[in-house]
Amino acid sequence: MNDVSSRILASLLENRTGQQLTMSRRWRIETALKSLMRERDLATLDQLIALLVTGREAALADQVVEALLNNETYFFRDRTPFDTLLGEPLKRLEAARAQEKRISIWCAGCSTGQEVYSIAMSFAEQAARWADWKIDIIGTDVSLSAIERARRGLYSQFEVQRGLPVLQMIRWFEEREGQQWQISDQLRQSVRFQVHSLMDKPPQAAPFDIILCRNVLLYFSNAARRQVFGRLAEAARHDAVLMLGAGETVIGQTDEFVSDPAQRGLYIKREALAVRARSAA
Ligand SMILES: C[S@@+](CC[C@H](N)C(=O)[O-])C[C@H]1O[C@@H](n2cnc3c(N)ncnc32)[C@H](O)[C@@H]1O
Repeated sequence: MNDVSSRILASLLENRTGQQLTMSRRWRIETALKSLMRERDLATLDQLIALLVTGREAALADQVVEALLNNETYFFRDRTPFDTLLGEPLKRLEAARAQEKRISIWCAGCSTGQEVYSIAMSFAEQAARWADWKIDIIGTDVSLSAIERARRGLYSQFEVQRGLPVLQMIRWFEEREGQQWQISDQLRQSVRFQVHSLMDKPPQAAPFDIILCRNVLLYFSNAARRQVFGRLAEAARHDAVLMLGAGETVIGQTDEFVSDPAQRGLYIKREALAVRARSAA
């Protein structure tokens, strides 16, 4: 692929999603676009780009962006942050929302839904505790194909086994033809999915009590990341909890969120820290 082609792809991806196609990720372009090239009977990447720039095929740009996105995910990814989040921070929110009995959760950049269903499963497994509560869980992603898969909730044997203990797999999935496993209707009906870009205004379901935005911002420029943190802050209630991916942090990226001093790996709004300090004084 020539340099002009790789620049065209990089700017298409960045304009649509905020993600940068850094030099270190360019090696995977050809692999990512291989099946699209095969479908269209194109021998080289440069031919694909040439067709793309004519603008004759409106859907092609969408398909290229979809193919370039990294949708890697699995149930209860990195487990410990889920245990942390669903421990003390959730107890604190439960006490704070005792009157309204409603908790609103946003998984931003949820890919094919495993993160959303992991959260839904955790609440469903404590049915008595949340019996008269409204637990609103929404998953969003810029990728339409990922959201369609999330809505179907149909996973391969490999995908369900990754991260899920057998007991949970048996409890929450039904086996389908061809070694596929479908998430139970109960869980599927307890969540919502929506195509949404983090570069845009927060979804209508805002404000949220818990926001997960994990392994999404890694490839954003500093400016785009700052903008997204601004969006997340806009969408978060004053005492909300933010969870990022294992290698991610807010430090040096935004002034809106700070590390939660009480919970390693979770973040709260700066204003919440000030309120906590005043009530502790
Ligand atoms: C590596 S996956 C992470 C999935 C999940 N959060 C996890 O940690 O397992 C990153 C997801 O972010 C999505 N994404 C990339 N740019 C986005 C944007 N601007 N808005 C929303 N989602 C985006 C991708 O489509 C992809 O599904």
